[in-house]
Amino acid sequence: MAIARSFLLRAASSQWLAAQVTKRAFTRRAALRFMPGEDVGSALEASGALAGQDIGTILTQLGENVTTPGEAAAVREHYQDVIEQIAERGLPSQISVKPTHLGLDIAFDACLAHIKALAEQAAATGQLLWIDMEDSRYVEPTLELYRELRTADANVGVCLQAYLRRTPDDLKRLLPLEPVIRLVKGAYNEPAAVALPVKREVDERFFKLGRRLMEHSKKGRSSVVFGTHDLKLVKRLREEARRLECDAGTYEFHMLYGIKARAQKTLAQEGERVRVLVSYGSAWFPWYMRRLAERPANVWFVVRSFLLP
Ligand code: FDA
Repeated sequence: MAIARSFLLRAASSQWLAAQVTKRAFTRRAALRFMPGEDVGSALEASGALAGQDIGTILTQLGENVTTPGEAAAVREHYQDVIEQIAERGLPSQISVKPTHLGLDIAFDACLAHIKALAEQAAATGQLLWIDMEDSRYVEPTLELYRELRTADANVGVCLQAYLRRTPDDLKRLLPLEPVIRLVKGAYNEPAAVALPVKREVDERFFKLGRRLMEHSKKGRSSVVFGTHDLKLVKRLREEARRLECDAGTYEFHMLYGIKARAQKTLAQEGERVRVLVSYGSAWFPWYMRRLAERPANVWFVVRSFLLP
């Protein structure tokens, strides 16, 4: 299983493979299992449908590692339009951005300016803006972006990855900023020196960090999101939340579109705050490979889409 995961994650960075895979109808069909469509209209429609089940959404346009300032500016303009559309439609939706999609590889300050502008626009319509966490090379600059934004009191949340060895220290440094954190296990191919290699250890680390965040949010203004489909972990966290007497709203559960849809609905019906991250866009190859790596059995969906057109 670990070999399949590592193979799929290595393949995620192949541009040749991306070009081959994204033009084939059967792989596009398979990718649609995790996204309502490639266009933002499909994501907004899906958000409306989920809102009817008391489930909020987070919209994200797929794409990463842009190489020109013009591309980064176009991504910012795209999100400005999405924030407007969310407000116009009155949807319980937020957006989530990847720093390298907004030019982090080109210039830190320009990337910061893009995210700040989006955060301000989002805040003006009552929305929170999320910052995804990419592979470990980007953790330090992403946290630097977050510190700058949070110090300026922007309405932003950032993702932390439980598998990284550095995360407990990062969290300790962030807590004085009363952060809004999305805790996830971590989706990239990292060496054992950087990330815990054993899944059981990652799960336990997630629980401990989650408990630390809940304890902190009880005392301060921070809040925590658990981004996971691991239902055993969800159960443990809910029990812990009850034991700590956390108020509703100090924590939420977020899952990805198309994964554990029944559990999303049940959690919402049981009174938990639930959001679904809805991805869209044509640059889905590396993201899709990460979804396959999370559950290599998903490769069978690709095979099935090939056999059953
Ligand atoms: P785990 O991998 O243990 O899965 C638990 C169960 O969920 C599996 O047994 C399976 O049933 C189901 N499942 C999980 N993944 C599946 C899949 N792809 N297909 C089908 N079933 C699946 N990562 C990151 O590095 N940076 C980020 O910014 C984010 N952002 C983010 C936001 C949100 C809202 C979520 C839910 C996740 C992320 N992630 C992420 C991804 C995260 O790091 C992690 O890779 C996945 O959530 C899978 O881990 P789980 O916690 O679900 O547990």
